[in-house]
Amino acid sequence: MKRVAVLTSGGDAPGMNAAIRAVVRAGIAKGWEMYGVRLGYKGLIEGRISQLGVRDVGGIMQRGGTVLGSARCLEFKTKEGQIQAIRSMNQLGIEALVVIGGNGSQTGANALRLNDFPVVGVASTIDNDLFGSDITIGVDTALNIALEAIDRLKTTASSHQRAFLLEVMGRDCGYLALMSAIAGGAEMVVIPEVETEPEEVVQAIWRAYEAGKAHAIIVVAEGAKYNANRLAAYCEEHQERLGFLLRATQLGHVQRGGNPGAFDRILATRLGAAAIDQIEKGEYGVLMGWIKNEATATPLEEVVAKKKPLDMKLYELAKVLDR
Ligand code: F6P
Repeated sequence: MKRVAVLTSGGDAPGMNAAIRAVVRAGIAKGWEMYGVRLGYKGLIEGRISQLGVRDVGGIMQRGGTVLGSARCLEFKTKEGQIQAIRSMNQLGIEALVVIGGNGSQTGANALRLNDFPVVGVASTIDNDLFGSDITIGVDTALNIALEAIDRLKTTASSHQRAFLLEVMGRDCGYLALMSAIAGGAEMVVIPEVETEPEEVVQAIWRAYEAGKAHAIIVVAEGAKYNANRLAAYCEEHQERLGFLLRATQLGHVQRGGNPGAFDRILATRLGAAAIDQIEKGEYGVLMGWIKNEATATPLEEVVAKKKPLDMKLYELAKVLDR
């Protein structure tokens, strides 16, 4: 009988619980013993591993976050930390590990692979910046939260004839900002992939004012060179050229906290179950991601070496539509 463990790591994402549930139940269905690791790689180093049964993962699918807990762990970046983590698993006879997470987490999974430990990743991050998955667990829910924020801001912005800078998450990637700007009908989007000067934002706000709009909404990715606060400082110095009064709002971790929608629950369930199939085949050292509507394995080596590009056609489309 196989013994397999699962952990969640890095920034949590709505849908992680559905992935844990699928991994545990699909493993048990194969007659394996399944284990959960508390607090990601930190818990792995500390040996915080316990067996999970089918009932232990009942009633968790609809909850945001991760019941296993998550952490960003510096110690795991060291060889000693990695050896200690493998030792913790060896002590319990665990033969394979499923790592649910984004770029940092899959870099950790790749380190285990390089230490010859059998590992399979599951693509999960709200940023959607992971190579090897067209869409990752959590993105759809986070996007809908950002979209709701835009819709709400539009209402109050129109009442007061205001412009709003809305900062959404995305450390190095403008996906959430771009997609929420398109779906929310924003006047402009500022993303890390395109260098945007603060003066361009002033001009976009003024264009909206001149066009007779009741408001202007500018969506800003947190990873852009000029974030919402910096843009607000510049815009306020040029208030007389804005037309509208300006306010800035940072959505922050609110985006990560929602209960997962149907899309994320199903995606997470399929990727979690696919990770178990992969372990059954004995094909380790890969990330299970969603490519062309199918669960697909990509070598971790490739996942950590390549940057996922943003579809710039969508950025051009946003510019066409923002008039
Ligand atoms: O990786 C997901 C993410 O939410 C990023 O968008 C954001 O920059 C980061 O995590 C925030 O990290 P933390 O929760 O550690 O502050």
